[in-house]
Amino acid sequence: MANPRRTSYSSNPLPISDPTPQFQSQTPQTAATLLTSLKVFLKKPHAFPFLLSIFLLLTWVSLRFQHRYANPSFHQSSYTVNEKGGGYVKDSNANVVKFPSFSSLVMKDKRGWLINPVSIALDADVPGGAVSCASIHVGEIRPGRVRGNHRHHTCNETFVIWGAKTVFRLENNAVKKGYSEVTIGADEVAVAVSPSGTAHALVNIDAIRTTFFLGCQDSVMNNNGSTTDYNIWNDL
Ligand SMILES: *[C@@H]1O[C@H](CO)[C@@H](O)[C@H](O)[C@H]1NC(C)=O
Ligand SMILES: *[C@@H]1O[C@H](CO)[C@@H](O)[C@H](O)[C@H]1NC(C)=O
Repeated sequence: MANPRRTSYSSNPLPISDPTPQFQSQTPQTAATLLTSLKVFLKKPHAFPFLLSIFLLLTWVSLRFQHRYANPSFHQSSYTVNEKGGGYVKDSNANVVKFPSFSSLVMKDKRGWLINPVSIALDADVPGGAVSCASIHVGEIRPGRVRGNHRHHTCNETFVIWGAKTVFRLENNAVKKGYSEVTIGADEVAVAVSPSGTAHALVNIDAIRTTFFLGCQDSVMNNNGSTTDYNIWNDL
């Protein structure tokens, strides 16, 4: 009399099912035996669809990962990525637009990048920036150092930030923490906007490189203390 279990196995058209009970009964199985069985299996013609499926699976996984890391919108929902004009990443919560320094949007020829921060902010629809520069500050921030961490009440300011891994923090009372942050990579150029009355800070979080920045303000400040609040965040 036929064993119903065996029958069900032998009726299975896939020969891969047959060795399965043997594998289970032979534990502990040495790695060498497993390897030999695998070699024998792979030499058979029916291994081809199996290998093809594994290859397709790996391709799918690698494409998903590439897409994930190429597209920051997976990390932060407020990002929008614009592929037109060379591509940029915009974070509306932190008023930042950033691009790889080799993006055709900022690098028109082999000499390197060149931008007009005021028009980039306007074109990318980042509101509240300086429309003209009445006062300009250019400077560096060494690794681990912070600039800003203050709130101007009498000027809108538009920044250009590049050169090192840098965090731009902008006061934003619409989010729970009270501020939004964007990390700018060492190979990126960012335009950031801080409207009048909004606190901002630039933090160099790079281990070795220096951050460079330009700040364009639409009024001349006399820094007498009544127009700016200092030391806004004490975690910086
Ligand atoms: C700042 O921008 C606002 C509009 O966003 C404008 O009304 C204001 O005049 C600008 N300048 C200053 C110094 O506030
Ligand atoms: C500080 O500057 C503002 C204008 O920016 C002015 O109105 C104010 O009188 C100044 N205060 C002092 C103490 O100089």
